Amino acid sequence: MAALIDGKAIAAKVREQAKEKAAQCAAAGRAPALAVILVGEDPASAVYVKNKAKACEACGVRSLEYRLPADTTERQVLELIADLNADDTVDGILCQLPLPGHIRETAVVNAIVPEKDVDGFHPVNVGRLHLGEDCFVPCTPAGVIRLLEETGVDLCGKRAVVIGRSNIVGKPVASLLTAKNATVTLCHSRTENLPAVTREADVVVVAVGKKHFLTADMVRPGAVVIDVGIHRDETGKLSGDADFDALLPVVSAITPVPGGVGPMTIAMLMENTVKACRAHLRLG
Ligand code: GUN
Repeated sequence: MAALIDGKAIAAKVREQAKEKAAQCAAAGRAPALAVILVGEDPASAVYVKNKAKACEACGVRSLEYRLPADTTERQVLELIADLNADDTVDGILCQLPLPGHIRETAVVNAIVPEKDVDGFHPVNVGRLHLGEDCFVPCTPAGVIRLLEETGVDLCGKRAVVIGRSNIVGKPVASLLTAKNATVTLCHSRTENLPAVTREADVVVVAVGKKHFLTADMVRPGAVVIDVGIHRDETGKLSGDADFDALLPVVSAITPVPGGVGPMTIAMLMENTVKACRAHLRLG
C-alpha cells in the first residue's frame, strides 16, 4: 500500500523549527520581519497574503502588509520596495504575484535586493541556485525537496522526471534534484511521448496546472509522485495535477491534494525569512 506524504505534518515541523530560530533572533536583537506587498484585489492572492500573515504570527515573525489599490503605478511599487530595501528592520520582501497588467513583474522582482528576496525570484538567487551556491530557494520547490527528504526518498542516482518548466516551480525543482544527484529529465508541453519518459522515473514531480494530468498508466509501479497542482471544482472539492485515486495503488508514495505540497510553501517562506534575519543579524 502506498504511503501518503503528509505535507501538513511536515509543514508543521518546518514552522516549529522556524519558530525556534525566530526566537533566537528575537533574543539576539529583534524578531524577523517580512514585508508582503499586495497590489489589487485578486481573491486568491488575498487568501495567500492572509495565510502568510497567520503563519508569521504563529512563528514569531513580524508581518508588515502593504495592500495597494489596483491602479497603483509601477513607480509607486518600486518606490515602496526601495524604502523596504533600505529599512534595516525588514528582513524579507515579497510582492504577491500576479501583478496587474500595467506593472512589469520583472521590474518588481529585480528591484528587491537579493538579500531580502525570500521568494528566491531575483536573477541573482536564480543564478546562485543553478550554480549550487547558498541562496534563497523558491518556496514551493524547496517544499518539494523537503517532502522527499522527510519521506526518506534517496535521490542519488535515481531517475527523476519533472513535468512543467515554469520559472517558479519546474526549472528550480529540476535544478535542486540535480544538486541531489538525481538524473533529471525536465518535460513540458512539447515533450514527445511523455508517458514513455515518465514511466522511466523513480520520482515524478508534476507541475502543469492541469487537473488529473498524470494518470496511472504514466508511472512505473513503486514510483514516488509529488503533485504541485491545485484545482477547485464547482463543488469546492480540491484536486491536483495527478489522478490521485488511480495512482494510489500503483505508487510507493504520493502527496495528497490538499495536504501535500500546498502547506509547505508558506512553511518554507517562514524558513527563508528566518534565514534572511539570521544573516542580517550576523547569527551565522
Ligand atoms: N503567487 C503564487 N505563488 C507565489 C509565490 O510563491 N510568491 C509570490 N510572490 N507570489 C506568488
